[in-house]
Amino acid sequence: MLTIRSQFTNHFNYNAALVVKSPGRINLIGEHIDYNHGFVLPAAIDNFIEVAIGKRSDGVIHMVALDLGETIILPIDNLRPHATAWVNYIIGVVDQVFNKSHSANNNFIGTQNTLTNTEITIAVNDTNLSGGFSICIQGNIPLGAGLSSSAAVECAVLFALNELYNLSLTKMQMALMAQNAEHKFAGVNCGLMDMFASLHGQKNKAILLDCDSLAFTYYPLALNDYSIVLFDTQIKHALASSEYNTRRLECEQGLKIIQEKYPTVKTFRDISLEQVEDCLASSINSTNEMKEDKLQDKTTKDNTIKVYQRCKYVVEEIKRVQLAVQDLATGDMQAFGKKMFETHKGLSKLYEVSCHELDFLVEAVSNNENVLGARMMGGGFGGCTINIIKKTAVEEIAKELAATYKKQMHIELAIYITSIEDGTHLVA
Ligand code: GLA
Repeated sequence: MLTIRSQFTNHFNYNAALVVKSPGRINLIGEHIDYNHGFVLPAAIDNFIEVAIGKRSDGVIHMVALDLGETIILPIDNLRPHATAWVNYIIGVVDQVFNKSHSANNNFIGTQNTLTNTEITIAVNDTNLSGGFSICIQGNIPLGAGLSSSAAVECAVLFALNELYNLSLTKMQMALMAQNAEHKFAGVNCGLMDMFASLHGQKNKAILLDCDSLAFTYYPLALNDYSIVLFDTQIKHALASSEYNTRRLECEQGLKIIQEKYPTVKTFRDISLEQVEDCLASSINSTNEMKEDKLQDKTTKDNTIKVYQRCKYVVEEIKRVQLAVQDLATGDMQAFGKKMFETHKGLSKLYEVSCHELDFLVEAVSNNENVLGARMMGGGFGGCTINIIKKTAVEEIAKELAATYKKQMHIELAIYITSIEDGTHLVA
């Protein structure tokens, strides 16, 4: 098989200046709390996106997606969201770099939670960037499986531009820029976790990211007799991104209600379960008094219940991750796994981002003594479950699960046994 370098040369008749690899990610625990100022525990995996890049002088970005056999050429000086999804992940980060001076931050949308400590300002001095570049891209991260292939593309391209044009960006700046690109060009108001993990991954280590201060700590992932196995539902729900954005808004709404009564509360980090009950459960009781036959009252009541459920989950999950990290540090993987099941329950029943197929896969392994923990992973509504399974039992469990999944859902289960690898890097 031809290397990406040779394919670049074949397409463009000159040699690539450099090649970059950027991995997908898993997340052990801490789901849907990166944008709620919680903690997440992701790691980079052995599936990756690879880009080969070289400068041009005619002012265009010439992009070739090798796996898809698609080519798109766009002028670099007028970048706007494009109809082709993969193109947006490339031009989205170019837009971030090309806006000569701009700031990126990790704010909540529409609230006053300004994280001044995470604001960055980037000044791109190298006007050569306006000459454009050629890029070939390929990868083996399953698309739509919740393994962050889009973040891996953004990080690979940004890392490559950083090298090519000596931009002197730190990995954290790149992560924040990639996050902004996703908001602006893909329309998903995602948190920072995916980009952060792709860039900062380290072999055999999970990373605890404090999504408030952006401080992070590496934890050796000593799984010994256990493996991390992903079961892919093969479900790719079209509604996922709009529901994702709705969850963010519901959380913001809940936070505001709590802040009205408890003005010292800045983020979900400061909120106790008692405060959630006090402010949000009581408003459900008051909406109960509304007349059931009024449609608008019903809608308000439904929304109030949802906001309560979302906030309850977020506060519980923030606490759960902190405890799970202690389990990891003491090597109590049994306790860690139990928390993964609890997270799944919260995501399914309170946060409502699971789906029938994900619930089925978690339920099917929940009483298996060789499975320490299982839960849906990532944004939800499809994608993968993450499981910690005894190495000697993986083959049998996977075989049985694939058979029952096929029988019940009429879908082939995809199975990935992951290894934890380094983050974005140059390929020699
Ligand atoms: C997606 C987003 C992340 C994070 C997860 C859920 O992967 O891109 O920022 O919110 O969902 O934890």
